[in-house]
Amino acid sequence: MRILLTGGSGMVGRNFLDHPKVDLFEVFAPSSKELNLLDITAVKNWLAEYRPDLVIHAAGRVGGIQANVKDPAGFLLDNLDMGRNIVAAANQAGISKLINLGSSCMYPKSAENPLREHMILSGDLEPTNEGYALAKIAVSRLCEYYTQQSSRCSYKTLIPCNIYGRFDSFSSEKSHLLPAIIRKIDHAKSNGLTQVEIWGDGQAKREFMYAGDLADALVQAVMRFDQLPQNMNIGLGFDHSINAYYQAVAAVLDYKGEFVHDLNRPVGMARKLVAIDKQKSWGWQAKTDLSTGIRLSYEYYLEFEKSRPC
Ligand SMILES: NC(=O)c1ccc[n+]([C@@H]2O[C@H](COP(=O)([O-])OP(=O)(O)OC[C@H]3O[C@@H](n4cnc5c(N)ncnc54)[C@H](OP(=O)(O)O)[C@@H]3O)[C@@H](O)[C@H]2O)c1
Repeated sequence: MRILLTGGSGMVGRNFLDHPKVDLFEVFAPSSKELNLLDITAVKNWLAEYRPDLVIHAAGRVGGIQANVKDPAGFLLDNLDMGRNIVAAANQAGISKLINLGSSCMYPKSAENPLREHMILSGDLEPTNEGYALAKIAVSRLCEYYTQQSSRCSYKTLIPCNIYGRFDSFSSEKSHLLPAIIRKIDHAKSNGLTQVEIWGDGQAKREFMYAGDLADALVQAVMRFDQLPQNMNIGLGFDHSINAYYQAVAAVLDYKGEFVHDLNRPVGMARKLVAIDKQKSWGWQAKTDLSTGIRLSYEYYLEFEKSRPC
């Protein structure tokens, strides 16, 4: 099985490449310099030369609330262009299998939790990441259209909940919630600070899966591709409040300070818990508990990220 993994240098991609069973496949993971997905000619030429059996599309322009709010046009265009280029070029090249990575941002902001795959496009999106979400929805629909239109190709979308773990971004500009919490609490602990600020009241709930578990789901998705539904959430089936994540990180890092809330900051959706009924029927579940995941992420942060300039 020859696999093209886009986004091989990103968090999802690097965890896939780090998975103990990845050697079962021949994986090509070109960087954006080697294969710029925004360049359709480069994508077509690459596929013609290497002829993979399956594509995992895990490249994207990904960022936290601040980055998304600052440049919604850029998030929409880059993710749309990358996605349409790889999916359309794969179809033209006759590649029969493709796994596209979606995001739980694709769900409407007022959709009832848990979020079920059929709810996509049933309401307004969360404004703080609308551009990103629109691109993700369009590319997942493109996968569906090709699958419906052609008997020779089957292009499916996995919709993971939030991910954290090794190879995460811990920079203040780009980081998601959990690495940001780890960085903030480690900073407070290292500098003897007695308070850590939480954006909003901390009661919004989030579902965070350890990235090694998503990698495992992807390995399984390659091995059991034919049984995969067209669109399928990958999640834990439970979530925690933002306050609870701060407390869990404080416990692992042994930080004894207090938390204060800045109620003027944006917090995003109140809750985003994906339904895992399809995932359960498909026969997969995540294995890493929160404390273990935070500990492994913190060890990675200390070894590779802490000394980097923000
Ligand atoms: N992280 C999460 O919590 C999460 C949750 C759900 C879904 N996802 C989805 O999973 C996918 C990967 O996320 P991630 O967290 O791994 O992102 P990431 O760490 O930011 O990595 C992004 C990847 O995309 C590549 N890339 C960016 N622009 C490119 C271009 N023009 N051409 C080719 N490659 C390009 C980057 O390559 P270079 O480094 O070589 O530039 C990098 O490998 C995204 O679709 C995201 O929506 C992520």
